[in-house]
Amino acid sequence: MDIKQAKDIFHWLYANTDGYRISIEARKKLSYYYIADTYGEVEFDSFYQILSLAQPKPNKVFYDLGSGIGKPSLVAYLCFDFSKIIGIEKLEGLWQTSKNILERLQKHYLELCKTKSNSQIDFIQGNFLDLDFSDGDVIFINSYTFFYYQIYDRLFINRLKKLKKGTKIITTVMPITLPIFNIKKLGRFKFSWGEEDVLIHSVFY
Ligand SMILES: C[S@@+](CC[C@H](N)C(=O)[O-])C[C@H]1O[C@@H](n2cnc3c(N)ncnc32)[C@H](O)[C@@H]1O
Repeated sequence: MDIKQAKDIFHWLYANTDGYRISIEARKKLSYYYIADTYGEVEFDSFYQILSLAQPKPNKVFYDLGSGIGKPSLVAYLCFDFSKIIGIEKLEGLWQTSKNILERLQKHYLELCKTKSNSQIDFIQGNFLDLDFSDGDVIFINSYTFFYYQIYDRLFINRLKKLKKGTKIITTVMPITLPIFNIKKLGRFKFSWGEEDVLIHSVFY
C-alpha cells in the first residue's frame, strides 16, 4: 500500500484515542504499582523507518511485546507484508482498545483488508513472559527502561534462547546484552515522549 494512504488510515483510526489516558485508567484498577506498566507510544513515521531498517522479508512473523493500543502492529500491518502480526498487552483497557481499533479497520476498510488476506493480525491479552513467541522473525520491545526487570527475568531469557537464527529484536533505549545477539544501533528516533536510541539484535546461532 502507498505509505501516505497507510498514514492517513493510521491517523484516522487513532484520532480520538488517547493511550496515555487509557493506560492511567487501567493502572488505577491494579492493586500495585509496577514500572513496566509505564506507557509510551511509537509514532507512525519513525516506526515505519525503524521497521524498514529491519528489512523484513515477506511472510515473516512480527510480535510487539507490550503492545499498548496497538500502534506498532498497525504500522506493521498497513506498510509491510508480514504473514502474522501479534501484539501482546497485559492491561485490559489497552488491549481492548487495540481490538476495537482493529475492528474499526476491518469494518471501514474491508476491501483493503481483503487484499491483505495473507496477513493475520491479532491482539492477545496476557503477560508476554507466559507466552510463546518463538516463531517471531521481528520482535519489538518498547521500552528497555521500563522492562529492565522483565528482560533479565530467567523465564524471558529462556524464551529468547529459543528464538530462530536470524530473528531480529528491536528495543528502545538500551541493548539486551546476551551472547546470542549481534547488536547494532539503528539511530535515534522520535517517540511519543521524545527522541530515543533504537537498537536491533540479530540472533546469530
Ligand atoms: C511503553 S508501552 C509500549 C506500547 C507499544 N508497544 C508502543 O510502542 O506503542 C509498554 C506497554 O507494555 C505493557 N506491558 C508491560 N509489561 C508487560 C508484560 N509483561 N506483558 C504484556 N504487556 C506488558 C504495558 O502495559 C504498556 O502498555
